[in-house]
Amino acid sequence: MTRLKIRNEIRFILNGEDVALTRFAPDETLLDWLRLERSLRGTKEGCAEGDCGACTVLVGRLSGGRLVYESVNACIRFLGSLDRTHVVTVEHLRGDGEKLHPVQQAMVDFHGSQCGFCTPGFVMSLYALWMRSPEPSDAAIEKALQGNLCRCTGYEAIMRAARAISSYGKAAKDPLAAERKAITSKLEAMKDGSR
Ligand code: FES
Ligand code: FES
Repeated sequence: MTRLKIRNEIRFILNGEDVALTRFAPDETLLDWLRLERSLRGTKEGCAEGDCGACTVLVGRLSGGRLVYESVNACIRFLGSLDRTHVVTVEHLRGDGEKLHPVQQAMVDFHGSQCGFCTPGFVMSLYALWMRSPEPSDAAIEKALQGNLCRCTGYEAIMRAARAISSYGKAAKDPLAAERKAITSKLEAMKDGSR
């Protein structure tokens, strides 16, 4: 009989770093851990109850052998649910060389931000959409942003930015697309009993 090795840690990838955690509270949220333990404060806390989207990050998971990223509210996502995932925060976004990422540059050029508190969440939701659908319809943009609230800028400027992202770069050449194979292999290797 094959015995499955039981492990006492959760493993995941945070941006480009492998993480293994053994001790954390069962109710510790991803948002608290990112901000308080890892000092990744680009991910904001607004409502802390899943309504405003200021805390949006991407979580990539293997599904049917494919690595699929979805936007997630880190304030209501428990740390313990992240085993074998790739967590991507706004700090991981980068463009070519010293340039801003296409999503960030579009938000700047189309004045998609005023106070900026909601902006990292909008950027991450738009990033997830852009990778899935580089030329989205207005309906798709509205749907992707339905969990993000902005009280300052108004949504028209953000919509204009969203429509323009692909003119700043190609989703297929994004660093996350380029890393896809390597991340998939790492997540495969994190299966129970694999080490
Ligand atoms: S802080 Fe508002 S949805 Fe997470
Ligand atoms: S820019 Fe201030 S809440 Fe969106």
